[in-house]
Amino acid sequence: MKFFLDTANIDQIKEANSWGIIDGVTTNPTHVSKEGRDFKDLIEEICSIVDGPISAEVVSTNCAGMLKEARDLAKLHDNIVIKIPTIPEGVKAIKVLSAEGIKTNATLIFSAMQAFLVAKVGATYSSPFVGRLDAVGHEGMELIQQTRQIYDNYGYDCEIIVAAVRHPMHVLEAALIGADVTTMNFEVMEQLFKHPLTDIGLEKFLADWKKVPQKKSRSKKGK
Ligand code: E4P
Repeated sequence: MKFFLDTANIDQIKEANSWGIIDGVTTNPTHVSKEGRDFKDLIEEICSIVDGPISAEVVSTNCAGMLKEARDLAKLHDNIVIKIPTIPEGVKAIKVLSAEGIKTNATLIFSAMQAFLVAKVGATYSSPFVGRLDAVGHEGMELIQQTRQIYDNYGYDCEIIVAAVRHPMHVLEAALIGADVTTMNFEVMEQLFKHPLTDIGLEKFLADWKKVPQKKSRSKKGK
């Protein structure tokens, strides 16, 4: 399963990229609004840091506007993926962009039928938002299971990006179901490394190591 970082923050992207586990980045208008920078400059900088799919979202709500924004953004870098809301105008736009060879990420997916529709018109990725479903009393991961089954039943190669992830268990469940990608914020990605027994174990090893007698300097053999 690929790991995408869900942020537009350059410091976080650089730090997480240095861990060697990032396969791509997803941004959205909310992430971008926090950075106080020109959108295209920001996206170009992200593309210069991470060598993988970088999602940039359109803000038009009609097909013509989405297409104009998408074609413009796609010129910035080969790795750009156009994020489009899953509404009828968005589905129309995905079909056109897919025929033009422009990669798309259908966002704001909350039902398996929405995930089905975007695969039908050739979306490269679909992004079901699990955490937001959990927050209103639904089982977000069920949507991932259903989407996986539909795509497998009919051979759609649309990649499932598990989005709006809130904790490492979402990432684990996504991997067990066989999602293609999980996109997560910096804090969740950082939590993936953590286990209290690792910290306790390391502390003990280092404390014990201090008891090992050390020679002041060790000359090379034969000298
Ligand atoms: C996905 O691509 C979205 O940017 C993201 O996961 C939204 O999640 P949120 O509910 O944390 O804002």
